[in-house]
Amino acid sequence: MRQTKNLIWVMVLTALGACTQIDAPDTMDTMAPAMVDDPNDLTIAFIGDQGSGTGARAVLELIRAEGADLVLHQGDFDYKDNPAAWDRLITAVLGPEFPYFASVGNHDRKRFFGTGGYQDLLKRRLARVPGARCMDDLGVRSVCTYRNLFMVFSGIGTIPRRPDDPRHIAYIRGKLAASGALWKICSWHKNQRAMQLGKKKDAVGWAAYEACREAGAIIATGHEHSYSRTHLLSHFENRTILSTSPILRIGRGRTFAFVSGLGGKSIRRQRRDGPWWAAKYSKDQGASHGAVFCILGDGGRSNRASCYFKGIDGTIADRYLIVNEGRKPFRPTS
Ligand SMILES: [Fe+2]
Repeated sequence: MRQTKNLIWVMVLTALGACTQIDAPDTMDTMAPAMVDDPNDLTIAFIGDQGSGTGARAVLELIRAEGADLVLHQGDFDYKDNPAAWDRLITAVLGPEFPYFASVGNHDRKRFFGTGGYQDLLKRRLARVPGARCMDDLGVRSVCTYRNLFMVFSGIGTIPRRPDDPRHIAYIRGKLAASGALWKICSWHKNQRAMQLGKKKDAVGWAAYEACREAGAIIATGHEHSYSRTHLLSHFENRTILSTSPILRIGRGRTFAFVSGLGGKSIRRQRRDGPWWAAKYSKDQGASHGAVFCILGDGGRSNRASCYFKGIDGTIADRYLIVNEGRKPFRPTS
């Protein structure tokens, strides 16, 4: 059923793309042939700013209901400095072996390190997940792979609390350059002021955004408690819009960023705007808590992904298609 629904949306988005003047249109011809060696899709859920109340549980239940294969959490976990309770909630809803990856948020600093801390529990969880491999300082300066998905989890702007930290930038650039994976994701918690809808200040710097863009990596963030997604950009600091099509042709030098900050803690108003935003979902738009979902390899096509933001009230606040024009095809290995 989900496959059928997604295929319909791919066709709708393809038709929309054909109507835009900026982006080269897709046709059903260019979408064929389907991958025969990649029959399984991979659904990623992106959340941030979770909290520990009913909203947090409801979002995790939504993630389970949508059939997500893994969670990427962009930081700010339970806001209570209680890693054990946080991990128990994840286990209660998603199970003890559910692949759950995360970047550190500012509200996670106090109990992030050390035995029984968030990092420790994430490590223990990922050790139970077949096929999940991580290296270096998990959630702070780390890379993980899962079914040929390549993910950089950074604490830039959070640990240490300053933008453009050179160690972070060098790490992000170096790891992305060394990866041959088609699907690359950059995950961190904080934002630049122009990369969120609320009152957050410049905390990350532009170099991390540009490094991920140059590598054609999707940029996932949190921190501001609303949802927003940029158009396809060819420069983040200048907010250079390459295309406004709902079909995003990412590749080296062009990508998009989003804030998925409706994980359960609270819902904030929109305070800022800009032509680079493709989707905005805050209190002003009647937002509910929810998550971003991306189905990679959707419909058996390794370089396609269909993505949407879904609220716990069932609202689909955003929907788009990614065509990844990077080099190597996405082939799940397990
Ligand atoms: Fe935060």
